[in-house]
Amino acid sequence: MADYSVLENEARERIGAAADLSALEALRIEFLGKQGSVSGLLKSLGAMSPEERLAKAPAIQALREAVANALAARKEAMEAAELEARLATETLDLSLPAPELPKGSVHPVSQVMDELAEIFADLGFSVATGPEIEGEWHNFTALNMPESHPARAMHDTFYFPDAAPDGRKMLLRTHTSPVQVRTMMSAGAPLRIIAPGRVYRSDSDATHTPMFHQVEGLVIDRDIHLGHLKWTLETFLKAFFEREDIVLRLRPSYFPFTEPSVEVDVGFALVNGKRVLGGSGDAPGHGWMELLGSGMVNRRVIEMSGLDPDQWQGFAFGVGVDRLAMLKYGMDDLRAFFDGDVRWLKHYGFSFLDQPTLSAGVGAQRTHAP
Ligand code: PHE
Repeated sequence: MADYSVLENEARERIGAAADLSALEALRIEFLGKQGSVSGLLKSLGAMSPEERLAKAPAIQALREAVANALAARKEAMEAAELEARLATETLDLSLPAPELPKGSVHPVSQVMDELAEIFADLGFSVATGPEIEGEWHNFTALNMPESHPARAMHDTFYFPDAAPDGRKMLLRTHTSPVQVRTMMSAGAPLRIIAPGRVYRSDSDATHTPMFHQVEGLVIDRDIHLGHLKWTLETFLKAFFEREDIVLRLRPSYFPFTEPSVEVDVGFALVNGKRVLGGSGDAPGHGWMELLGSGMVNRRVIEMSGLDPDQWQGFAFGVGVDRLAMLKYGMDDLRAFFDGDVRWLKHYGFSFLDQPTLSAGVGAQRTHAP
């Protein structure tokens, strides 16, 4: 019988002496690769006579197996030694602080909306919502702006080219006032809601963006009057701006959905060229800033919303949320709100841990996000 023990011993010796994994891989190729010496022996079987092949094949197969096993054993030993070495040198300090994760920040508009919800929740208001894609009826008609009413021209409306399946003309809501109608229809009276959200008008410059934010307020009950409106706005603005000296001036105005309608101005002082709310606008160095529209809900709107205007009445108001944010936190370009510039967001954004609370004075404890 053929004896390959010399070959086998030599292979074992060289495998045992291999310095590292790449040297070992070179040996595997040398012995068992396509052109390898052991592979060559296996191939030579094909050229032998059947008798010779029968005599030599078992020993060659055994050689191949012995070399393969020796390679595998050596490889395992090397890997185990490597792991041992790493375990011996590397240490893991479990008392080290965890690596810091990148943190996002809360956009000032979201922050202000949370502040508004907090302030009005304390006055018994809940938050209502409505769709941003509206029908003409909710956005205009039910708010006492019938077809061809000149007040529709007050809004530069984005209309959709196609009508809804039921034939309604669709648009991007131009104000949050349609939520008044929707909530009266779905929840009935009495009612105290605010409705913050996005609104759209075809308008664009430093102080106007085609998309902006409003918050609508609506109170419906049996004996609500203008005094309730004024007190509510005063209480809200004092809590929001965290100043007791907020002074309001109510001016007669016109909105189709309120009667009477009042435009509300707030007194401000010029401090280092910046407008700071507080004090009467008639005081020296002061002025009045137009802040919001409001009024007693027009009885036609109450009627079109399915309520009896002889039983139910109330007030409504609408304020720009972005405007409130700018006045409170001192940004001066509205367009930057929606540019998505991370540097702006980092500077003006808020930590998600800073939940506005009335007891802390909404906004008072605020630390800007890192
Ligand atoms: N919807 C009005 C606007 O967008 C604001 C408003 C709301 C006025 C409610 C009166 C009452 O200009």
